[in-house]
Amino acid sequence: MEPTAAQESQAAGWWRQAAVYQVYPRSFADSNGDGLGDLKGVVSRVPYLAQLGIDAVWLSPFYPSALADGGYDVDDYRDVDPQLGTLADFDEMAARLHERGIKIIVDIVPNHTSSRHAWFLEALAAPKGSPARSRYIFRDGLGPDGALPPSDWTSMFGGPAWTRVPDGQWYLHLFAAEQPDLNWENREVRDDFLTTLRFWSDRGADGFRVDVAHGLAKNLAEPLEPLPARHHPAGLNGTHPLWDRDEVHDIYAEWRQVFNEYDPPRAGVAEAWVHPSRRPRYASPAGLGQAFNFDLLEANWRAGEFLRVITDGLAEAQRNGASTTWVLSNHDVVRHASRYALPAQDHLESTENAKGWLLSNGTSPEPDLKLGLRRARAATLLMLALPGSAYLYQGEELGLYEVADIPAELIQDPSFLRSGGAEKGRDGCRVPLPWSPDGASFGFGASAAHLPQPAWFGPLSVQAQEHDPASTLVMYRQALGWRRRLRTAERLEWVPGGHGQVLHFARPGGWQSVTNFGSEAVPLPPGTVVVASAPLKEGLLPADTTAWVLGS
Ligand code: NOJ
Repeated sequence: MEPTAAQESQAAGWWRQAAVYQVYPRSFADSNGDGLGDLKGVVSRVPYLAQLGIDAVWLSPFYPSALADGGYDVDDYRDVDPQLGTLADFDEMAARLHERGIKIIVDIVPNHTSSRHAWFLEALAAPKGSPARSRYIFRDGLGPDGALPPSDWTSMFGGPAWTRVPDGQWYLHLFAAEQPDLNWENREVRDDFLTTLRFWSDRGADGFRVDVAHGLAKNLAEPLEPLPARHHPAGLNGTHPLWDRDEVHDIYAEWRQVFNEYDPPRAGVAEAWVHPSRRPRYASPAGLGQAFNFDLLEANWRAGEFLRVITDGLAEAQRNGASTTWVLSNHDVVRHASRYALPAQDHLESTENAKGWLLSNGTSPEPDLKLGLRRARAATLLMLALPGSAYLYQGEELGLYEVADIPAELIQDPSFLRSGGAEKGRDGCRVPLPWSPDGASFGFGASAAHLPQPAWFGPLSVQAQEHDPASTLVMYRQALGWRRRLRTAERLEWVPGGHGQVLHFARPGGWQSVTNFGSEAVPLPPGTVVVASAPLKEGLLPADTTAWVLGS
């Protein structure tokens, strides 16, 4: 039977309310015992992903890479790192996930290549002013002998954004020196990425997560513009020389045309740390279609903050015909079970916070981990009841905390290395997952994992939790199961009450979510409680708890 128009448009909009699970491949599952996760490892865990009840998997980069930045330094955009597998393994993984109805989102890193990319090696070997150099951003230095960097631009990982090459020129890298920035004014660069988008789409990718989506267009006019006094990536009005410039959307308009060559069209989600008022441009149907909204991730555990973030996010999405996204954790920030264990972070300016990894400065003062996990579970349940798509990060379904005590000599993150240890970096949320309570790497693989796993991983492992009805894993499974059944129109209605301490909303079809941010237990509306983030107290909803109620 031919699909109806409604079914077709539903298929095209699969991403609008999807629960997307982020796999950080090197830390998910290791099939060959080399300490590093791989694609066959993902294949072996497809039943787990299916049972969890997610709609899509987003894979962080699995390309050949020297791992100067956890794989976001890409040597070749159309291959798989030999340590992670082969293209055939990718095909196998895509087939197994698709069999279970799970979509695949591939991470594209267009702002920079790695310094081992064939183009960069060619650029180094080529003379000044050559076509090979013009794929990147090479400039002469300042000062009498050109020994000063061409501008005051700084790297997001600390230090200058320029590195000098032997013939005296400098190249730009807004991240690590091993991540030279591409020149997006170069047509060849643009065309090559269109080829890459088609390459993965043809191999079964259903969508793309676009790394540093707000960074590709730069003002390269001479003399290079100095940074504004208050350097901040979330430029408000498109005039910052490096971030969130209006011209970047010409690039995504071309990408959209490629996405629309496919049926259903390929989806896109922008990682763009921009002011909320500028986010819709990235999420436009004429552009990538969706953009990460990190506001929930940055909110403190307070009813008022959550309310503001949710109402703003939904209103923005409605105005622009996109659906909003929600994120509590990813591979760049401290896990939310640890964040909520800390005192509220009011002293961190939200602009600084927006860099995400600034949050990764460890866990002093002393965290209240029990409270952190209790609030994390409540926050997740609230998030999963919202219209829009929810992005989950591997391990949060186990209630994992940040691993805050990785010894300095084992830290891999360039933000730690380039800041001279001032920033602790992001390894604490990238420690390989515990699948079983014991073994060489808690079931991750047959040998020790590439980052050290703490002893407390054992009791939080998949095996330890999966038959425990009170566990975080079982709560995620239940919640994702109900979400699939209950989600309908992208609407919610707030139910007033709760003296500013309770967030209560109803979705069409009698689905209600109630979260108690206060300290006293509160009554629930009539109906059946289908999932709760903690046990009820004599029928009341206790502090720091969310419950879903199916109304009568
Ligand atoms: C954002 C990615 O999420 C992060 O992990 C990476 O370090 C930077 N982009 C640079 O690619």
